[in-house]
Amino acid sequence: MNLFDVYPLNDITIVKAKGSYVWDDKGEQYLDLYGGHAVISIGHTHPHWVQRIQDQLEKIAFYSNSIHIPLQQQLADKLGKISGKIDYQLFLCNSGAEANENALKLASFHNGRKKIVAFTKSFHGRTSLAVAVTDNKNYLAPVNETDNAMFLPFNDTQALEDCFAKQGKEISSVIIEGIQGVGGINVADDSFLKKIRSLCDEHGALYIADSVQCGYGRSGKFFSHDFAGVNADIYTMAKGMGNGFPVAGILIAPHIKPKHFMLGTTFGGNHLACAAALAVLEVIEEEKLMGNAVMIGKYLRAELEGVPGIKNIRGRGLMIGFDVPEDLKDLKKNLLWNQKIFTGEAKPNVIRLLPSLALKKRDAEQFIDSIKEEIEILTAEKV
Ligand SMILES: Cc1ncc(COP(=O)(O)O)c(C=O)c1O
Repeated sequence: MNLFDVYPLNDITIVKAKGSYVWDDKGEQYLDLYGGHAVISIGHTHPHWVQRIQDQLEKIAFYSNSIHIPLQQQLADKLGKISGKIDYQLFLCNSGAEANENALKLASFHNGRKKIVAFTKSFHGRTSLAVAVTDNKNYLAPVNETDNAMFLPFNDTQALEDCFAKQGKEISSVIIEGIQGVGGINVADDSFLKKIRSLCDEHGALYIADSVQCGYGRSGKFFSHDFAGVNADIYTMAKGMGNGFPVAGILIAPHIKPKHFMLGTTFGGNHLACAAALAVLEVIEEEKLMGNAVMIGKYLRAELEGVPGIKNIRGRGLMIGFDVPEDLKDLKKNLLWNQKIFTGEAKPNVIRLLPSLALKKRDAEQFIDSIKEEIEILTAEKV
């Protein structure tokens, strides 16, 4: 049987990982500034995470949501404490798309409405409603098309006001990434998020903060939306939540009331997933990783400002992007093959850095030296 060929692959087989490093089957070491797409939050194979999962595995790995799973409450307590959203409610699921699906559905259950406001360059996942509010027609199958999704320009307050003035009574929710990831590391303005909050309040719509990529401490705050100083009604989380163990969830404001069977899942919130997610939060707290994300992020952005050729350095914490001009278009590839450094990208010309929140200064320094070297080579080849 062949694998369904939907991913363009780098010809590398990774067999081992530790902290911010991975090794291939030939023993070659790579610095990982991509984290398998923003998933590695506390570092690969962190010993506490490994131990917690191993210990849990020996007790019980899975039982469904038809019985009490005290680990879920422990996770909710810890999440409430670290995120500051103590009075929110937690629903656990398995992936970012599923988290957004549940958030959008819950909003519609809550206010009985159908329309969703999303923004240009958004990415919210590949499943039915999540892909309908994703601004990329290539991912949208005919069956996913719906008039219920509306796209407004990102960070355009006037367009948002106009939309609410016209259709405010029909809008169920507004969904927005605090920092767009797949769209190219675009930071939502604090004033824009505040405006979403006030318009949602005024018109009875819900504000959904997609924190799948920009959340879980990556920005230096637990949710990057928190920079705006207002709360969302629902936060969606995945990626960094399990440090590679598939686990996701939504935080739901106290004014949204649950009803039996309105949401559900077989695997969501299983024992192993909770153990992995608890281990992640324990390490984030113990090792002060949000502080590290702020510090190393600042260092990287300041150093990148001095790197010739690249432009428009942006982001928060350890979610950083910059534009690469056409004459340096091989930079990402050369960083990987010549310098053995994984970075992320966003089409057409953005390099994205999404390392572990535990990235060390010496690794950041190595990256800066490497990028300078590769740019020098590319520039010399051009002359
Ligand atoms: C902001 C955002 N939302 C949702 C998703 C979808 O998450 P998943 O791939 O786990 O379904 C992603 C994935 O990249 C994302 O970046």
